[in-house]
Amino acid sequence: MRARAVRSGLLIALLAAPPAAAEPDGAALFEARCAQCHGQDGRGGPGTQAFQMPMPDFTDCAFSAREPDSDWAAVIHLGGPGRGFSPLMPAHAETLTAAEIAAVLAHLRSLCRDERWPRGELNLPRPLVTEKAFPEDEAVATVFANTNRGGEVVSELLFEKRFGPRSQVELSLPFVARERPDSSGSWNGGVGDLGLGVKHAFFHSLDWGTIASLGAEVKLPTGDDDRGLGKGTTVFEPYLAWGQILPGGAFLQVQALGEFPTDRGIPDEFQLRSALGTSFTLKPFGRVISPMVEAVGSWAFVGGGVDEQWDLVPQVQIPLNRRQHIRLDLGVRIPLTDAGRRPTRFGIYLLWDWYDGGLLDGW
Ligand code: HEC
Repeated sequence: MRARAVRSGLLIALLAAPPAAAEPDGAALFEARCAQCHGQDGRGGPGTQAFQMPMPDFTDCAFSAREPDSDWAAVIHLGGPGRGFSPLMPAHAETLTAAEIAAVLAHLRSLCRDERWPRGELNLPRPLVTEKAFPEDEAVATVFANTNRGGEVVSELLFEKRFGPRSQVELSLPFVARERPDSSGSWNGGVGDLGLGVKHAFFHSLDWGTIASLGAEVKLPTGDDDRGLGKGTTVFEPYLAWGQILPGGAFLQVQALGEFPTDRGIPDEFQLRSALGTSFTLKPFGRVISPMVEAVGSWAFVGGGVDEQWDLVPQVQIPLNRRQHIRLDLGVRIPLTDAGRRPTRFGIYLLWDWYDGGLLDGW
């Protein structure tokens, strides 16, 4: 009788005991190691810390969904300064194991429950020409300059702002400067056609590594078409944009667009743009460098025929500051077709992801 009771007691103890290599409990770790500053519920808020500074609210999907795991892992490992944040955020690389950091990160992820917000991992590096599928809060200044076949410099200021979980509006203003064809050496210049656009991500899945958007831009004839600075008519540009994460840090982005001048009602050009690239860091949690190559095909409908052209745009995107919300892209747009007539262009952009901080923050 007694021996049996002991045996069943042992059995119960064995069953109740945790397995030898227990998974770390992210919620318990958060409570013990993070809650004194970030709040039990992860919302920061007043009274959670001795210091007074705005704290991130991890339950706010508008903020948290856009942050990729890699950035949060970097801040948890290296502390705030690892990404140009406050040193009040301590480094945990020595005090937590990699498995514990992964568990606490999974707990942070569980605080935003609204699946409509696309995850930051799907925010692939912006190529020079191809429009991204991810909705952005960004300001970008782009310049393309001819390196041969006559002087031409086309700059564009672009401002993008998100609204709702999956949508974005944008405003673009080009400036065009062109050498006069009369070989006098003098230049023509001025404002080009102002663009107003919207974009909506109609599908996204982190499991698939896929995001797809529909967008449209209206280009208003603000540029003087007599001087070749604009098209002289309102142009409607609908497009489909698709982003795909590939294995090993690689990615593919594709955009298909049509140009419909409203004075004709029929398209006068189709373009297929694609960017294949990869992202890597030189050291763990370091800056993300993204070499890419774009292929840009265009089919212009002129005089009853079709003028097909292809360009290749090798380039590299590099972050300029530690927070990585200010980035530079350098590339060359090389004509593959009609190279004797079409110029090779040098391209550069400076990008500011203004949601992540001011221009002077995070260096
Ligand atoms: C001593 C206070 C303190 C503790 C403890 C602390 N944090 Fe922080 N954490 C901060 C502060 C302050 C910031 C904001 C820094 C800023 O905005 O400049 C921050 C920022 C962060 C961010 C960056 C959010 C963003 O804006 O992208 C993450 C992620 C984070 N903490 C996770 C954690 C985790 C996980 C733990 C526990 C393992 C933890 N923190 C413990 C103070 C703390």
